[in-house]
Amino acid sequence: MTRALALGGTGPIGREIARRLSAAGWHVDVTGRNAAHMPPELAAGGVRFIEADRADDTQLRTALGDGADLLVDCICYTAADARLLLPLAKNATSTALISSRAVYVDSHGNHANSDVQPSFDGPIHETQPTMAPGDMDYDSREGYGANKVAAERVALDSGLPITVVRPSLVHGVGAACPREWVFVKRVLDRREAVLLAHQGAGIVQPTAAANIAALVKTIAARPGTRILNCADPDAPSALEISRVVSRHLGHTWEEVLLDETAPDTLGRTPWDSPCPVVLDMSAAEDLGYRPAGDYAAMVTAEIDWLVDTARAGSWSRMDASHFSLCFDYATEDEFLARRRRTEAGQP
Ligand SMILES: NC(=O)c1ccc[n+]([C@@H]2O[C@H](COP(=O)([O-])OP(=O)(O)OC[C@H]3O[C@@H](n4cnc5c(N)ncnc54)[C@H](OP(=O)(O)O)[C@@H]3O)[C@@H](O)[C@H]2O)c1
Repeated sequence: MTRALALGGTGPIGREIARRLSAAGWHVDVTGRNAAHMPPELAAGGVRFIEADRADDTQLRTALGDGADLLVDCICYTAADARLLLPLAKNATSTALISSRAVYVDSHGNHANSDVQPSFDGPIHETQPTMAPGDMDYDSREGYGANKVAAERVALDSGLPITVVRPSLVHGVGAACPREWVFVKRVLDRREAVLLAHQGAGIVQPTAAANIAALVKTIAARPGTRILNCADPDAPSALEISRVVSRHLGHTWEEVLLDETAPDTLGRTPWDSPCPVVLDMSAAEDLGYRPAGDYAAMVTAEIDWLVDTARAGSWSRMDASHFSLCFDYATEDEFLARRRRTEAGQP
């Protein structure tokens, strides 16, 4: 039986990889620090949880045991992490290291976490320049991409069959930062309007965890030392994403498309980039990758999970502070009331 090991495999990415591979007859093991974070449906499907801290060399080697046909590292953030991956990758037929599109810089050096949002000339190919490698705090705006680049280089320079995967904005069940929450919560709050900055035209391409899993399956069959982008086959705007969510939940609202005269605190969403951020997927496609589905088809599982989790009040990992700027209902209501008065010719 073919064996896969996913480090940090209890999150949304590992969950989809494990689910899809075990359904295809693989033996799948996932690591984490806390067995309570193991999705019950994975355990029921025969996926095994192995307790192993990502920083503990001995625990990692024990988890790998005699080797694997596929090794996936979902939580490789630094060069030090990547150095711990190498001895494991030597005993794996194919390895996938989950990196990020946050490594890319535009011609001015701006990246996903810069104060000034990047402006790319078109779909971003894997040859697009990246941030310089760095070793500052990886959990910081400048450090995240720089450390990812450093990790990528350690992996690629080893010459081992490690594929670096660069997803965009990941969506999936169990996400710690489920961006669609900005619209799901609005539906649950029965809001009558959705406000969208830049007329809802912003695009930062999403990546379904299920599509990462589909790409990882391709990587398992085609080991190599390379970099591959990973994004959904479509690139919906913020307005289109709001419609996917409201349609799925059977909610109707007024779409208030804000222009630059509106207060810049209103209508913020995670997809509100002044220039489209879209990944070129031709390298993955040339390798034989076919997506599991488009954004609207793949995101519904996460939307349903958000609704169920909110109703049960059972958040375990989501940090609502990510979204605090998106729910200033008092300022919104004031803005809408003023707009109605203006339209009615009232002072
Ligand atoms: N979210 C995005 O939009 C996005 C975009 C691009 C790239 N990425 C990349 O995607 C990856 C994250 O994937 P994900 O969201 O599926 O993972 P995740 O949810 O962040 O983490 C997966 C699991 O790893 C375990 N874990 C965390 N730290 C650990 C440690 N030190 N030792 C052992 N286990 C640990 C956690 O379980 P325990 O707490 O039980 O240990 C967690 O359930 C990262 O590499 C990130 O850079 C994400």
